[in-house]
Amino acid sequence: MKLNLAVLPGDGVGPEIITEAIKVLQSVGEVYGHNLNLQYGLIGGIAIDEQGTALSPETLKMCRESEAVLLGAVGGPKWDDPSAKIRPEDGLLGIRKSLGLFANLRPVKVFPELVDATNLKPQVIKGVDFIFIRELTGGLYFGQPKKRWQTADGWQAVDTMTYSEKEIERIMRVGFELARRRKKKLVSVDKANVLETSRLWRQVAEAVAADYPDVALEHMLVDACAMRLIQNPGHLDVVVTENTFGDILTDEASMLAGSLGMLPSASLAGVPQENTRIFGLYEPSHGSAPRRAGLNIINPIATILSAAFMLRYSFCLAAEAQAIEDAVAKMLREDYRTYDIMSEGKKEVGTKEMGDLVVARLRG
Ligand code: IPM
Ligand code: MN
Repeated sequence: MKLNLAVLPGDGVGPEIITEAIKVLQSVGEVYGHNLNLQYGLIGGIAIDEQGTALSPETLKMCRESEAVLLGAVGGPKWDDPSAKIRPEDGLLGIRKSLGLFANLRPVKVFPELVDATNLKPQVIKGVDFIFIRELTGGLYFGQPKKRWQTADGWQAVDTMTYSEKEIERIMRVGFELARRRKKKLVSVDKANVLETSRLWRQVAEAVAADYPDVALEHMLVDACAMRLIQNPGHLDVVVTENTFGDILTDEASMLAGSLGMLPSASLAGVPQENTRIFGLYEPSHGSAPRRAGLNIINPIATILSAAFMLRYSFCLAAEAQAIEDAVAKMLREDYRTYDIMSEGKKEVGTKEMGDLVVARLRG
């Protein structure tokens, strides 16, 4: 198969982790007989420097002409001025919205080898394996009005939380479809005791549930969910929520896995269904970590696992995706660690070495 990919390394550690993920994809291609057609583009701070905008029409066109996008990370202190007109993050928000990437999948899986690498008690996090589905193109991030104005009493500002029935329905379907393929349990997170958008969210969830009688739907308030994540994360399997709640809860959830450096993500433009290829953008859940850039220390696993996600959802190459995930697990079992997941008695390696170790295990 020919895989037409847009590759956007971005800023900070982005280029380093992308190099490793591409190395892994190339070797999957060699082993399974696929050809990678890679088009590189700019996004974020580097795009501001070189093209005067965080997401240029050229980059967007290149992404539209590809079958999937692999992204590193954006942002850094150089572009952090709060009064700046354009910010690297605009590139990320712009690409999500322009490409219709409404479903953000963020799995949280605790590898048994890393149970001791977290701050939580092993008995709480052992076996934790759930997936967050965060609505990505609606809510407070994009709602209008969104502005700041001067009043007699000083400045005032507004952001708008808005959701349509259609926006809720499609993200709910992603939740139910994934739940159906896992433990047939879906938790829908909202704040229906306070917010009107959440009351609509709940109503639509109930309506969509009628199409999935085999899946048990549970509603959970967002504050309770924040607590549950720490108290009893083993209860969760598939969790669906709106944009802002999902942003906050997924950072919290990432700490269960020991390091943000372990967590991949997929942002999809459709509802995943068996044997259907979906356009998507794949990136690690972590940011550009500017202080770690260029040191060959950053953990490339989140990006490598994102590449596996890409094979699964955008190309329906389940065996190839599994091969990457198995190679990563094997390497961890053999005690190789980057600094962020290092513990006593393990073997510390750098970014490149970790990529090479995964490749070697893939080639078997
Ligand atoms: C994320 C990030 C982004 C978000 C930022 C960088 C705009 O925190 O992907 O979670 O808030 O969505
Ligand atoms: Mn975030």
